[in-house]
Amino acid sequence: MPGAVSLQRFTSDEELLTAFRMGFFGSAKSRKIKPVKRLVGTVEMPGDKSISHRYAMLGAIAEGPSEIHFFASSADCQSTLDCLKKLGVTIDRRENVVTIQGAGLAGLKPSLQALDAGNSGSTMRMLAGILAGQHFRTVIGGDASLSRRPMKRVIDPLTQMGARIESAEGYLPPLEIEGGTLRPIRYELPVASAQVKSAVLLAGLYAEGETTVVEPFATRDHTDIALEQMGADIGRHRRTIAVRGCARLEGKKVYIPGDISSAAFFLVAGLLVPESNLVIRNVGLNPTRTAILDVLATMGGRVKVLNVEMLNGELLGDLHIEPGTLKGGEIAQESVPGLIDELPVLSVLGTQTEEGLWFHGAAELRVKESDRIAVVAANLRRMGAKVEEFPDGLRVAGRQKLRGAEINTQGDHRIAMAFAVAGLVAEGTTVIRDSGCVDVSFPKFFDTLERVAE
Ligand code: S3P
Repeated sequence: MPGAVSLQRFTSDEELLTAFRMGFFGSAKSRKIKPVKRLVGTVEMPGDKSISHRYAMLGAIAEGPSEIHFFASSADCQSTLDCLKKLGVTIDRRENVVTIQGAGLAGLKPSLQALDAGNSGSTMRMLAGILAGQHFRTVIGGDASLSRRPMKRVIDPLTQMGARIESAEGYLPPLEIEGGTLRPIRYELPVASAQVKSAVLLAGLYAEGETTVVEPFATRDHTDIALEQMGADIGRHRRTIAVRGCARLEGKKVYIPGDISSAAFFLVAGLLVPESNLVIRNVGLNPTRTAILDVLATMGGRVKVLNVEMLNGELLGDLHIEPGTLKGGEIAQESVPGLIDELPVLSVLGTQTEEGLWFHGAAELRVKESDRIAVVAANLRRMGAKVEEFPDGLRVAGRQKLRGAEINTQGDHRIAMAFAVAGLVAEGTTVIRDSGCVDVSFPKFFDTLERVAE
């Protein structure tokens, strides 16, 4: 029965004002979600956000053209393209195909205006690595949420390499980066962060000799793969990655797989909504991103992986999801970095499991687009669930009856989508405030949901 998910929008002056204050114009729409009988059909996810950022940045400093197919529709990736344009890179975007005329490692031009990374931590942190190697000064800022996010983690290693970086008090954005000749370093990451690893490796392209990064836990390795694909001299052994400063990267035609972090919302929805039968096509299955599939399998989730292939060094395939009873349990600390973006929706799933769900070692969640531990806990409580908050994690009780509530997303895309999924299995109506923030990673999220809801 179409319309069972009532995705009504309404905008009040107060909401509009809040959105403006948050630097999120366009996010003021609220959406109403009602429970559904089933989710049936085949859906496609937007191109992977993480991989799209990387090919955009590497395409910009490669030689010759790069053609990126299925480039992410996310606003974050558009922020990366806009920053690169301001640095003098010629970029053409037609739907989901982005063509970049590589300027070469030394071909970026100074920007008279400050670069705007919007809501995107990946844009600011990874681009900082490239800007550290430029013989000019760049200012890069972002919206209200990004302006609260920690940048010391990139300032420290890039400064060690020879860049001069000023920030707002507390090592917060905006950053003023005075780049130059860099020296190679060996850097042990204090926090497991793919963005920081990438920033150091990208800066390493501008240093003479070998730059090495050692990770405490494995994080997504898309930068390592993309560098390999474009001809960089890169060595990888377990959690140590080394890159040699090089004369050139080769532009490339690449295809981006669907984003598994976006698929996570449909995976959880397809497992929780009774009578569902969902297929998600062409999802990226890079082993550093598939911890969610392992966790769901351990809980007894019925997810089949089909038609697996390798494209440009990245695995992809289809996921077939059927609902059933889920056991729940603990998420091990070493799995956390590989699941960091999926923890909000997994916490929602936890409420519907036999034993509940709990995890530690996820303090990083507090410095994402919102404090995701506090915001998940607060919204689950609004829906009537029992939740215990830890400094670095959550415990969500199982077998909870959720009731519809007004969800305060704090302008955070993953909170909006996680609680839209909660609304599908709650009693009554759930209202997702500032729902437009889903544009950050998945602009067609609500349309896609509506299409498969019966
Ligand atoms: C990302 C890494 C993760 C993740 C973010 C994307 C990336 O952030 O949360 O959504 O593309 O490298 P951290 O590096 O801060 O863990």
